[in-house]
Amino acid sequence: MESTIQANVASKDTLPGADSNILVEMLGISKVYPDNNVTANKNVNFNLQRGEIHALVGENGAGKTTLMKILCGLERADQGTIKVDGRLVRIRSARDADRLGIGMVHQRFCLVENFSVADNIVLGKEPLQAGLFYDRAKAKRTVKALSEDFGFEMDPNALVGSLTVGQKQRVEILKALYRSSTILILDEPTSLLTEQEIKAFFRILRHLKAMEYTIVIITHKLEEVGQISDRVTVMREGQVVDSRPSASLDKATLARLMVGKEVLLQVEKLAKEPGSAVLEIRDLTLIDPTCPRPLLAGINLRVRAGEVLGIAGVAGNGLGELEDVLTGMNSRGHPSGQALIDGLEVLGLSPARLRRKGLAYVPADRLQRGSSLLLPLSDNLIVVDHHAFLRFGILRHRSISKFSNDLIKRFGIKGNMNAPIGTLSGGNIQKAVLSRELSRRPKLLIISEPTWGLDVACSEFVYQEIMEMRNEETAVLLISSNLDEVLALSDQVAVMYKGEVVALFPNVGLDRESLGGYMLGLHRQEVKKDGCWEERVH
Ligand SMILES: Nc1ncnc2c1ncn2[C@@H]1O[C@H](COP(=O)(O)OP(=O)(O)O)[C@@H](O)[C@H]1O
Ligand SMILES: [Mg+2]
Repeated sequence: MESTIQANVASKDTLPGADSNILVEMLGISKVYPDNNVTANKNVNFNLQRGEIHALVGENGAGKTTLMKILCGLERADQGTIKVDGRLVRIRSARDADRLGIGMVHQRFCLVENFSVADNIVLGKEPLQAGLFYDRAKAKRTVKALSEDFGFEMDPNALVGSLTVGQKQRVEILKALYRSSTILILDEPTSLLTEQEIKAFFRILRHLKAMEYTIVIITHKLEEVGQISDRVTVMREGQVVDSRPSASLDKATLARLMVGKEVLLQVEKLAKEPGSAVLEIRDLTLIDPTCPRPLLAGINLRVRAGEVLGIAGVAGNGLGELEDVLTGMNSRGHPSGQALIDGLEVLGLSPARLRRKGLAYVPADRLQRGSSLLLPLSDNLIVVDHHAFLRFGILRHRSISKFSNDLIKRFGIKGNMNAPIGTLSGGNIQKAVLSRELSRRPKLLIISEPTWGLDVACSEFVYQEIMEMRNEETAVLLISSNLDEVLALSDQVAVMYKGEVVALFPNVGLDRESLGGYMLGLHRQEVKKDGCWEERVH
């Protein structure tokens, strides 16, 4: 497949004047990570045209981040050359990349939470007074002007710790713009954003494009490729498999190129009757005295054996708080009301005791909460059930190896069992946590943002696993800001807005638009005396 691409590129290159349009050219780039001997990039050719938005897509572990880190001087290629503006360049450090106008916004932000926006943006390149002292007033003025130029609406004085994810991302982008980067590389910038934030973010990208900035956006989301990019490059297993104008690719073809096989974007859902209630939530309220309104306000929900209850909502409307309170992770405010598993009160129990009551939990924040980054992959896979591997108080290493190997194979986790889990790529860490929780056969599964940061093939796999658990009578509470996911998996859908459940529907004939109105607070239902929900008339 690679040869056809090269032929395409070559025929374009032979057009008179076409060359001058190429701003960055990476040729024959190869990279092996010595620690684990993984070939992350294999003879990769990649180019960027001046002023384009270029989507770089591929499954987890395809080598996208590595390729871009090489362009930014954060990793060194073993082989290959890079040209910028037709000149051969050596990029050996971030400083070299900086000089060439190349800046990267990473998947995990690198901001100082207790610094102001302005202090963060100028960090390391502070304006000086008399050549000696940090000129904070000037920093603020510069940042304010910069923010206005790009339509970012950022307050230079705001504390970064108080910002939303979307705002923090803007700070990172401003940081690159402040350093005069004209080539911006954004590594999965939309994975943590809400739908509204993504819209605003795309407006910013289009604005930057209009100002002739060149942008690389790494993404897993197929629909974004068509929405925002001019060209797309697809990577698979360290190699480029295709590169062409985005308009010439539909979603299905793109998905096939990414994973090398047809993927179904549909989840098969067996029709079945739910069993008895496993989780019952009664009048659950969470009040934080420092907040003007309750974080959770009188929530009543029920999840039965063999059904998926999906909770939809925009971030900031109580989804995270509900997850925390139900899983023993809450650290804000005081919960009241009831949460019953099989009729027994569990509100306030520790995560360990909840597990013994039959709860499996996949947190949204799998890096911080779901894993111990310094421990080996195999330890992370057994950590919850390690007593199952004890005999006379001694861990049975052979059965641990077998168990770990089975999970690694079944879930296609790319990584060495004995390496610290923190050295795996983000997607593979997520797979490990998911495999550990899904491999148990729990009574109740609480799963939050199950496919954040996962690629198509991986997401589909996770969906199938969730469905299988439902079919085997696990009660599933799915908390997700991804509406397509909620609609694909749920038997019932509850919508949360400002800490309240504002609607509850059986998932029949529901669509994105109708739910959207409830998520944004435009409509709401109320509960009648018989427990049914109906539209509230304003
Ligand atoms: N610092 C590292 N050390 C060892 N292996 C790595 C490192 N970073 C990435 N890898 C491995 O290289 C491969 C490509 O990873 P990456 O470039 O992060 O892919 P992507 O961004 O497409 O998900 C993966 O198998 C990953 O585990
Ligand atoms: Mg990556």
